[in-house]
Amino acid sequence: MNWTRRHILSLEDFTLEEYNAVLQTAASFREVLSRKTKKVPALQGQVVANMFFEPSTRTRSSFELAAKRLSADILNFSPGSSSLTKGETILDTAKTYLAMGANIMTIRHKQAGVPQIIAAEMDKLNSGVSILNAGDGLHQHPSQGLLDLFTITSVLDRESPCVELLSGKKIAIVGDILHSRVARSNIYSLTAAGAEVHLCAPPTLLPKLFLDTVNQQAAGNLYIHWQLKPALTKADFVMTLRLQKERMQGNFIPSLREYHQLYGITRDRLKMCNPTVRVLHPGPVNRGVEITSEVMDDQGLSLIPQQVTSGVSVRMALLYLIGNSSNNSLN
Ligand code: CP
Repeated sequence: MNWTRRHILSLEDFTLEEYNAVLQTAASFREVLSRKTKKVPALQGQVVANMFFEPSTRTRSSFELAAKRLSADILNFSPGSSSLTKGETILDTAKTYLAMGANIMTIRHKQAGVPQIIAAEMDKLNSGVSILNAGDGLHQHPSQGLLDLFTITSVLDRESPCVELLSGKKIAIVGDILHSRVARSNIYSLTAAGAEVHLCAPPTLLPKLFLDTVNQQAAGNLYIHWQLKPALTKADFVMTLRLQKERMQGNFIPSLREYHQLYGITRDRLKMCNPTVRVLHPGPVNRGVEITSEVMDDQGLSLIPQQVTSGVSVRMALLYLIGNSSNNSLN
């Protein structure tokens, strides 16, 4: 397909064609990464600025590695040692990187909407710069949603991952959905792909307004449960989410112990699922809270290391696709 999207800010309006373009491109880069020489010159001479205003291990490092594998030049921004500490604004920081020649900016911020505001400013300046949302507040984490999609579809067909493979598959998403931008991105992608998505959380950790809105788009593919059993029964994949204590302002659960007793993913509970069930977690993990160490470290059950590995191929695909889009400053 001819990729025309300049910014990747949300999966809300992604088309099936775009999902498949990302999956196919990521599969090609996975093949490149299996070679002795893992580098291609696709973004040679171009500048990728990683602007993370909130902590990250996986997303930041995999965007950096992805950009390096594509032969781009990288600028890594650390808020604590930047001129933000002297009062410079986020927009002026972005314009500073623009003046240095940045072509693509990956942005993470604890406030929802910051990548959108920077994208609007870059468009207003006619800069042609692309913005990749690397996670904004409770809003979206599109590259995580896409790497989860790549991981799941690769289990179903490693050579040719595509959204059509998910038709009729049952996927349970269990945990702190209220505070999870990963869940929001996955709900859009998995329901669009035709999977049956079963959300399970205590009622205090479900975002009612978001779910009412998305339900209209999900064409009957979205189910909501307060108890694990109906969510896990015959599930093909179980995605468990971290309890995001840093985003909680109040007492959403009685205790971590009670939460684990009711919603923790254990080997015993997985017996309710399809015998081929695989478990995902976007990380970082609270071991022993949302998932036991036994499940997390079981290579036959856990896809967590594969998710991290997929992150590099998928982020290479995203940088490549927007870097070569007819709407981008690189062209
Ligand atoms: N899944 C994820 O976004 O992890 P990081 O916060 O480590 O980037």
